[in-house]
Amino acid sequence: MKVTVCGAAGGIGQPLSLLFKLSPYVDELSLYDVVNAPGVGADLAHICTKCKVSSYLPANDGLKKSLENSDLVIIPAGIPRKPGMTRDDLFKINAGIIRDLTIGIAETCPNAFVLIISNPVNSTVPIVCEVLKKYNVFNPNKIFGVTNLDIVRSNTFISQLDSTNQSKPEDFNIPVIGGHSGETIVPLFSIGAPQIYSSLSSQQKASLINRVQYAGDEVVKAKDGKGSATLSMAYAGFELAEKIIKLAVQSSSNSTDSSVTACCYINLADSINGAADFKQKLNSDINFFSVPCVLGPNGVTEIDSSILDKINNDESDLIKVSVDQLYPNITKGINFVKNY
Ligand code: NAI
Repeated sequence: MKVTVCGAAGGIGQPLSLLFKLSPYVDELSLYDVVNAPGVGADLAHICTKCKVSSYLPANDGLKKSLENSDLVIIPAGIPRKPGMTRDDLFKINAGIIRDLTIGIAETCPNAFVLIISNPVNSTVPIVCEVLKKYNVFNPNKIFGVTNLDIVRSNTFISQLDSTNQSKPEDFNIPVIGGHSGETIVPLFSIGAPQIYSSLSSQQKASLINRVQYAGDEVVKAKDGKGSATLSMAYAGFELAEKIIKLAVQSSSNSTDSSVTACCYINLADSINGAADFKQKLNSDINFFSVPCVLGPNGVTEIDSSILDKINNDESDLIKVSVDQLYPNITKGINFVKNY
């Protein structure tokens, strides 16, 4: 299993690479960045785990060399937010970075899983999909926008509201659907933590949802101009990546196949089981959404649309807002590639 981290020398890239170096499922870790990748690589290579580390800068075809034979590519490359910026403000710079990295993936390792962390995720994932389509190597089952930090945060914040103090954050797995910015983020606490959630007042419920939607701002403000979430993001990105890697490794070693469900922002392609059903229940033709994905050794095998049968009226209203706000974000990403 070879993992490549694009943007490996950054605030997210470094702790994320450390977690991969520690994972028993990763044999080779390839680090790519426009600066300082060799330094991060030399540092990580001294850790006494079996995983081999290599590092590359753009010179001498570095991107292609870093991507060669990769099974999974994870992308935290680009600029993060400063106070007062929205994720959409990052589009101008990050869109081009993501497009160029995806061209490298299309030409070098088109069968790899691709996990996109770089913001605005609502638009960068459509960019990746459009580029891969242009190269005729698009497989919607393997392209993931990483929204797992919204789930990690939801699990943490709901556990803090448990008046009985009986639960731990890691006991929860709150489904979070929609997109990855402000009101496009829709945490479904009524499904993931029905008892605690129903004990809250309307005001508490509203402020919990608002906290999840704007949790990134808490970190941006606290870092006071020095970036956005990095450590919690590295944790969240690794958690999702390791689920995908484990399933792939188990299948190639003929161990018992199993599946797990994780909410990820994906292309709701007609070829994915449950996608059409999900869109019908949303009453929308939206093509990108974070949905509960049933994952197998080759990525998404099915979208669990039954979640939409369980939501309450308030959540249904939040979803409508999310869908409306997501449309222009998606179109922006698609048009960026079409006009290139
Ligand atoms: P950072 O600035 O610390 O690191 C970014 C790294 O990308 C730098 O090392 C930079 O040299 C590298 N880079 C720039 N252009 C590149 C290129 N063309 N190829 C390869 N590497 C390149 O930023 P940080 O804090 O690590 O954030 C990275 C991205 O992740 C930002 O877009 C941020 O908004 C996003 N993010 C996403 C989250 C999510 O939940 N999906 C949460 C937090 C941040």
